[in-house]
Amino acid sequence: MKILVTGGAGFIGSHIVDAYIELGHSVIVVDDLSTGFLENLNPKAIFYKIDIRDFAGLEKVFKKEKIDVVNHHAAQIDVRKSLQDFIFDADINIMGSLNLLKLSLDYRIKKFIFASTGGAIYGEPQYIPADEKHPANPLSAYGAAKLAFEKYLQVIHINFALPFIALRYANVYGPRQNPLGEAGVVAIFTDKMVKGQRPTIFGDGEQTRDFVYIKDVVSANIKALESDKIGIYNIGTGIRTSVNEVFRKIRELLGENIEPIYAEERKGEVKHIALDATLAERELGWRPHYDFDAGLRETIEFYRKSK
Ligand SMILES: NC(=O)c1ccc[n+]([C@@H]2O[C@H](COP(=O)([O-])OP(=O)(O)OC[C@H]3O[C@@H](n4cnc5c(N)ncnc54)[C@H](O)[C@@H]3O)[C@@H](O)[C@H]2O)c1
Repeated sequence: MKILVTGGAGFIGSHIVDAYIELGHSVIVVDDLSTGFLENLNPKAIFYKIDIRDFAGLEKVFKKEKIDVVNHHAAQIDVRKSLQDFIFDADINIMGSLNLLKLSLDYRIKKFIFASTGGAIYGEPQYIPADEKHPANPLSAYGAAKLAFEKYLQVIHINFALPFIALRYANVYGPRQNPLGEAGVVAIFTDKMVKGQRPTIFGDGEQTRDFVYIKDVVSANIKALESDKIGIYNIGTGIRTSVNEVFRKIRELLGENIEPIYAEERKGEVKHIALDATLAERELGWRPHYDFDAGLRETIEFYRKSK
């Protein structure tokens, strides 16, 4: 199949590109390299440096490449920035995504796979782990934009029969995650600590997250590609780990004697979240295989090498 992966030079997208190519698919990548890197990009992928806000630029790709499936990972991913400048966030995460959706219809693609968020879409959960039926009350513009685009996917599916799968990821971690970004506590902590530096914990560190390893997220994208199901699926482990625990685990695995710096907690982030991925197991046949320690070990190895 010919698959367009947007954001294919980024952390998650680049791993999906590698896996799809490994499976024998032809992969086209659209990325503006705003937070992605050419070093991440699989040399067998056809690359277009295009901003998804550029409809005409995207249309040239659709016209030329005869795409079967769109896997959409390009996004403005900074939760704080989404609150400071929600028009910019919406411009990319809603309008840019709609450009892709419109072209997907016009060029009759077979399926649209979308990287949504489970960590930022439910708001402060009423119960944990949150399943897909949990009310979606995002606390950030980033979460609101992801939710809005999910709704467009549903509307376009109902009216024009375009199949879609939206994957609501928990906190994804692993090799290639940008440690200089705002998100990705594992990457940020590990990168600092392998260099002997002290990481900053925002708030008291007792906030909990559901950490899902990149290889499990890749396998969810393979299942999404191969399945004939349509819908929205949580992709997480259901296990809550506190930020303090993340720090302690990394410190233990590194054998370093480092203390964190505590700073004021950040706006737009929930206190506790974990995802119930039973639906993905039942309908897509997906479940996570990596426990946190195994994923952390591989991640630490990566940051050690790239120190
Ligand atoms: N990392 C997580 O824990 C997590 C959790 C839930 C959802 N997601 C979603 O997964 C996707 C990938 O996230 P990631 O963590 O790999 O981040 P990332 O920043 O590494 O990847 C995003 C990619 O999109 C590209 N991009 C950004 N704006 C663009 C634009 N306007 N036009 C074209 N390309 C653009 C960037 O250059 C980058 O390569 C995003 O949609 C994100 O919202 C990530």
